[in-house]
Amino acid sequence: MPQQPQTRIQQLCEEINQHNKNYYVHDNPTIPDAEYDRLMRELQALEKEYPELQTPDSPTLRVGAEPLKEFGQVQHQIPMLSLDNIFDDAGVEDFDRKIREGLDREQVEYVAEPKLDGLSVSVRYENGIFVEGATRGDGSKGERITENIRTINTVPLKLEGNIIPDVVEVRGEVVIRKDDFEKLNHTRAEAGENLFANPRNAAAGSLRQLDSRITATRPLTFFPFGLGEVSEYISGSHWEILQQIASWGFTPSSAVKQVTGAEELKQYCAQMIEQRNSLDYEIDGVVYKLDDINAREELGMTSRAPRWAIAHKLPAQEELTIVESIEASVGRTGVITPVANLKPVNIGGVMVSRATLHNQSEVDRKDVREGDTVIVRRAGDVIPEVVSVVIDKRQPGAQSWKLPEQCPVCGSPAERVEGEAALKCTGGINCPAQRVGAIIHFVSRNAMDIDGLGDKLVEQLSEQNMISIAADLYDLTAEQLAGMERMGEKSAANTISAIEKSKDSTLPRFIYALGIPQVGQQTAKQLAQHFTSLENLRTATEEHLLEVDDVGPIVAQAIIKFFADELNQQNILRLLASGIKWPAIEKNDTNQGHLFTGKTVVLTGTLSSMGRSECKEKLEALGAKVSG
Ligand code: IVH
Repeated sequence: MPQQPQTRIQQLCEEINQHNKNYYVHDNPTIPDAEYDRLMRELQALEKEYPELQTPDSPTLRVGAEPLKEFGQVQHQIPMLSLDNIFDDAGVEDFDRKIREGLDREQVEYVAEPKLDGLSVSVRYENGIFVEGATRGDGSKGERITENIRTINTVPLKLEGNIIPDVVEVRGEVVIRKDDFEKLNHTRAEAGENLFANPRNAAAGSLRQLDSRITATRPLTFFPFGLGEVSEYISGSHWEILQQIASWGFTPSSAVKQVTGAEELKQYCAQMIEQRNSLDYEIDGVVYKLDDINAREELGMTSRAPRWAIAHKLPAQEELTIVESIEASVGRTGVITPVANLKPVNIGGVMVSRATLHNQSEVDRKDVREGDTVIVRRAGDVIPEVVSVVIDKRQPGAQSWKLPEQCPVCGSPAERVEGEAALKCTGGINCPAQRVGAIIHFVSRNAMDIDGLGDKLVEQLSEQNMISIAADLYDLTAEQLAGMERMGEKSAANTISAIEKSKDSTLPRFIYALGIPQVGQQTAKQLAQHFTSLENLRTATEEHLLEVDDVGPIVAQAIIKFFADELNQQNILRLLASGIKWPAIEKNDTNQGHLFTGKTVVLTGTLSSMGRSECKEKLEALGAKVSG
C-alpha cells in the first residue's frame, strides 16, 4: 500500500533535517548533494499538493518567503545589553578584583568566550517551535527579522530534547565564516557585483534584506551565547545553560571554556590571540562572564552594561596608511590585478606594505587614488586589502586610477573575459609573468612540491630561456643548474633529485599543479575523485563536469578551455612522458566503506614518520575529514 502523504512528509522532514545537521553543524555530509536535492524536491511537491500538511519545522521554509515592505518592531522583554570593554591584562585583573570584592569571594569561576564579530540577534521559541527572530536594535527594541533568521541552517526550527520551556529566547551572534566569506566574494566578483568589505558587513547586509529569498542564498551561521526571556528555570550556571542550549540543537563555539580567576582569564586571552588566525570565524575580542547566574544580580549594572561580564578587545586588524602608488600586477593565469603599494604599517603584529584592490570596479567603487590615506585590513591568512578611503585627507589634484589596456609585463592586449569582472592578459605563455607564475605554482608545496626551486631560481631559468613551460623542468641537468647564480654543485644535485622525486605524485596534486584557472586544491581533489583518471577529466563534457560539487558553469568552461589549448596539451604529454605517475583512484562517490569514513581526525603534536600534509592526504584518501 502506498504511504500516507502525512507519513511520507514527516519522514522527509526528519531525514532532511538530519542531513542539514550533518552538513551545517557536524560539517560531515553523508549523502551526495544530488540525493539531498531529490529529497527536497519530493517534499516540496508533496507540500504543494497538501499545503495543510506542511509542518512549522519543514526544511522547505528555509528558502525564504515573499519580500516584506518593512520590518516590524519587537520589544525585548529582557533587554539585549551591551558590554564594557577592557584592553589589557590590567583590565582583566581589575574586572576580577571588582567581582571578588562585590561578591566577597576569594576565587571566582568564569566562562570565557570568543567575541564573535557579527550581529547579535534573539531567536524565540514557543512550545519548542521557532516563532520569531529579532535584531538587537537599541537593546530594548529591535527589528523583526523572523523570515531571515529562518533561512539560517544552524538555527533549529524545532528544539530537540525533553526539557522544552513554553517560551525561550536564545541569544547569539550571526556571522559569516571566513571560508564562506571568501567564496561569497569570489562569486560576486565573477558576477561583476560589488564585494563586501568584510564578513561582518556581509552578515549585516544579508540580515537586513527585506527579501528573505536573498538572505537564504547567504552562508550565515548562528552561534548562541546566552538566553533572553525563558519561562522555566534552566540552571544557575552559565556553562550549564550553554550545554542545555546545545542540547536543543544549537552549536556554541567550541572555543568557549570554563576558567577560574584572573590568571586563567589572561591565559585564555593569550591562547585566543594565538589561535585567532586559524579560527573559522572572525573575532574582535574575548568575553568573560561570571558563571554563577544568581550572583550576577548582586553585582548589577553600570549605565549600559552588566558588571558581571566584560569584553576584552583584541588589537585591531585594520589600520590607516598611505597609498604610495598603485600598480597592475599580472598573476599566473594572466589576471591583471590592481595592487596598492603602501607606506608600511603594522597591523596586529605584521608589517603590511601591499594590499589588493581586487579589480577595476572595486577601485572605482572605493575611488582609491595614489596618495590617498586608506583603511587597510588584514584578517588571518587572507591577502591584505584596502577597505576604504579617508576622503577628508585626499590631496588636491589626486587622479582617478585606471588599469592599462595592455599587459604591463608583455604588452599584449588585455581583455575582459565574458562573465568575469577580471581583466586578463592575452599573451598566454608568451607573457613572462604568466610563464613564470605558472611554473612557480607548478613546483609549489601543495602542487608538485619540488624543494629547492624557489621563485628567484625559476625567474632566472626563465630569463635565460632554459624553461618556458613546466615540462621543461624535467629536462634540466645538474650542470645547467650549477651555472645559476648562488647555486653550488651540491644544491644543483639536490634540486635535480627533488625534481626526480616529484614524479611520484597523486592525481589531485597533478591536476592542481596544472594551474587550470578557477581550479584550487579542493576542486582538484573533487575532480580527481569524480573522474578517477586524467584522461577522463581531459575529455569530460560540460555536462559531466557540472556533476562535480564545486564545479559551476564558469569553472567547467575554464577546464574545457584549458584542455583544448594546444600548448597545454603538449605540456601535459611531455610531463607524462617524463615519468610523472600516481596511484590509481577507485571510483567512490560517497566514500562509503572506507576505514575513516564519517570520522574527523585531529592532527596534533609532532609527527615522527611523515610530514603533516602527507599524513593529511593519506587520511583523506581513507575517507577521513582532517582538521588542525
Ligand atoms: S554577551 C550581557 N557574548 O558583543 C551580555 N556578546 O559588546 C551581552 N558578542 O551585543 C552579550 N560575542 O553582539 C556576548 N560571546 C559573546 C559575544 C557577544 C559577540 C557581541 C554581541 C553584543 C556585543 C557587546
